[in-house]
Amino acid sequence: MKRVGVLISGRGSNLQSLIDAATRPGYPARIACVISNRPDAAGLDRARRAGIPAETIDHKPFGKDREAFERALDARLAAHGVELVALAGFMRLFTPFMIERWQGRMINIHPALLPAFKGLDTHRRALEAGVKIAGCTVHFVTLGMDEGPIIAQAAVAVLAGDDEASLAARVLAAEHRIYPWALELVASGRVRLVGDRAEYDRRDGSDAMLISPAPDQAKST
Ligand code: GRF
Repeated sequence: MKRVGVLISGRGSNLQSLIDAATRPGYPARIACVISNRPDAAGLDRARRAGIPAETIDHKPFGKDREAFERALDARLAAHGVELVALAGFMRLFTPFMIERWQGRMINIHPALLPAFKGLDTHRRALEAGVKIAGCTVHFVTLGMDEGPIIAQAAVAVLAGDDEASLAARVLAAEHRIYPWALELVASGRVRLVGDRAEYDRRDGSDAMLISPAPDQAKST
């Protein structure tokens, strides 16, 4: 059973999906602590309600010294015996200090099908680009923003009439399904970071294909 530290900055709906998954019998991870860089993050209450230690390490007093902030964070993770870190809406970029320390043991969820739409405002940019398939990605964290090796992705259709809010909601529902699953893969050792690839224990050889809009839908319109 791997001890996981979840880092958040806000709402914490992905955190909730991890908390819920970790209560399942046989799940290979438990949430050892939740740390926010913002004292007002709603996710802190979600953790407390679940009886999980929840703390704030505000980045602001550290000013420009990002590494000092990370050392404080790292010390708290160590104090909780954390073995794996899951970023869930954590809005700070890490320096090489943190990245190297947690290499292969830190994962993130991003609300787009990477490598497309790195960074912020992913849903607005996806709609502007006119993509027909959107989705989310769980990846190992490396130095480049949203650039680490991909562990899992989920795709959803972009529908006629979608706006940012409706697309975000559809993608978020997919996030809540793949993040617990991806954490399970990493915590159980079925996926690991090898060089610059996420390597699976065994490949399932699936030739599944997703097409959006689904062909039968296309015929009837
Ligand atoms: C999610 O869309 C996640 O992909 C992104 O930030 C958002 C966090 O939402 N990194 P929540 O705090 O988990 O509800």
